[in-house]
Amino acid sequence: MSNNWINYWSGNNIWSSSSIWKKNSKILSLNLNKIVKIKNKSILDIGCGTGELIDNFIPEAKKIYGVDISSNYIKTCKLKFKNQKKVVIKLFKSNFKKLNKLNQKFDIIVCNSVIQYFSYESQIIELVKIVKKVSKKGSIFLISDIMDINDKKNYLKLLYYSIIRGYLFLLLKQYLILLINPKYRRLEKKYKLLRIDSKKVAKKLSRLSNKLEILEDPLTINVNRKHILLKF
Ligand SMILES: C[S@@+](CC[C@H](N)C(=O)[O-])C[C@H]1O[C@@H](n2cnc3c(N)ncnc32)[C@H](O)[C@@H]1O
Repeated sequence: MSNNWINYWSGNNIWSSSSIWKKNSKILSLNLNKIVKIKNKSILDIGCGTGELIDNFIPEAKKIYGVDISSNYIKTCKLKFKNQKKVVIKLFKSNFKKLNKLNQKFDIIVCNSVIQYFSYESQIIELVKIVKKVSKKGSIFLISDIMDINDKKNYLKLLYYSIIRGYLFLLLKQYLILLINPKYRRLEKKYKLLRIDSKKVAKKLSRLSNKLEILEDPLTINVNRKHILLKF
């Protein structure tokens, strides 16, 4: 991941208090619960941001670990969850290479909307290798919101889901915020986000897992994105 993205996520940015992130996390957690039951599970949220997903896991999960490279977000989460005994928040620099230092094994691992900020595809493979080490037998790892090189934006689908799921207004508001605050778009143009060929990457990852699926269901508000679901 380029330092510029690390700097971006480490400072104040337009996403930190974004209502669309909250909504997105709700939708993702509901969809995740359809894939695997969250109840009494120990969960690892990689790239936890401001902890919106964690918020949704709290009522049912047994234990939740949230990790991020942004000291800013880690500070926010530590404060937010300081009275939550089942939540543990940890700062992990250098792309989670030392996740095994958590000395924990998890049933569910989620990494939502994070890998596009990596610099190289190889970092995804490295991430899966390290996640495997902290995974229980039979656990699942969902890498969601993947930007695929073959994705075509389907605006009708985006509109359809934003209406039926009730976030059209929030989406429009976020587009407006992005317009008024051009820093994110500027960085996106300059440093690019990592787009991958999900099928090719999945082929490489399948050697590391017992089962792998590419999901094209609209698990998040980014309805055109793909998701890789691994079972260990
Ligand atoms: C778009 S936000 C997603 C936050 C959260 N997962 C969610 O779904 O709301 C991207 C997050 O990934 C983190 N992140 C970005 N690059 C990362 C990297 N190379 N390694 C780990 N985390 C990273 C950022 O700090 C930020 O919290």
